[in-house]
Amino acid sequence: MSEALTNASEFETATRGRTLLEVNDLRLVFGGIKAVDGLSFSVHEGEIVSVIGPNGAGKTSAFNCISGFYRPTSGTITFDGEPITRKKPSYITQKGMARTFQNVRLFREMNVLDNVKTAMHSHLKQNVIDAMLHTPRYLKSEKQCTIDAQGWLDFVGFRSDDELVVTQLPYGEQRRVEIARALASQPKLLLLDEPGAGLNHNEKIELMNLIRKIRDLGVGIVLIEHDMGLVMQISERIVVMNYGKEIADGTPAQIKADPAVIAAYLGEGDE
Ligand SMILES: Nc1ncnc2c1ncn2[C@@H]1O[C@H](COP(=O)(O)OP(=O)(O)O)[C@@H](O)[C@H]1O
Ligand SMILES: [Mg+2]
Repeated sequence: MSEALTNASEFETATRGRTLLEVNDLRLVFGGIKAVDGLSFSVHEGEIVSVIGPNGAGKTSAFNCISGFYRPTSGTITFDGEPITRKKPSYITQKGMARTFQNVRLFREMNVLDNVKTAMHSHLKQNVIDAMLHTPRYLKSEKQCTIDAQGWLDFVGFRSDDELVVTQLPYGEQRRVEIARALASQPKLLLLDEPGAGLNHNEKIELMNLIRKIRDLGVGIVLIEHDMGLVMQISERIVVMNYGKEIADGTPAQIKADPAVIAAYLGEGDE
């Protein structure tokens, strides 16, 4: 360690990359239910942080607050140095955060390629007049979008025909398209809500390899996943929630040995 690094936070930045996301004492109350009840964690560039906890623990609610879909009751969220608490989802996406959903969300009657293309900034920026008149500039940028979208589909290991509509695809392929779509917006941070749900064992292994490949691009990743074996293997850090509360935050080794985590999981029985 260099002598110039005089405090812990500078040391962290030098070793773990820039801080992308900081969640501080996040709370979300629905009527009487405390869905999220004091959650704090951070994610750095190129880091995989998993959020685990029994069903109903508040994991998806936390994602919904971070990505702007829900307005938190209190607490703060900082993304890439800027406070984003209560900003709209479109603003947060444009700043470089992408997410997938617990239940796949795609344009189901649109073909695969167009699903990915609609997530691209360059696609959104196309001039309406150019598009209506199909000018050479439009055709060139449209062609580039197609090439980029196909590049992301290759990256995620999509194997089917990209001209099929989403409903014609097997479930595992729909999951891949959703991730390709998220990547097409070129995010700095990616939130994955149970991307392994409904996948078989081999598909899950492929998914974990894909998540590592995304991390290696420098993207920060927050992963909700129930398979403890996979979570322990892939995560740099793990945040554990139970009844909205954060009961632990640490490395896989720390989490495995944490009495509060063991108690919560033994109490739950099947998790
Ligand atoms: N839109 C909503 N309205 C009311 N209650 C909700 C809503 N979404 C989630 N909840 C409640 O918040 C709690 C946390 O749910 P959720 O965030 O989906 O948990 P997890 O993703 O960990 O399974 C649950 O008690 C759930 O019933
Ligand atoms: Mg959930």
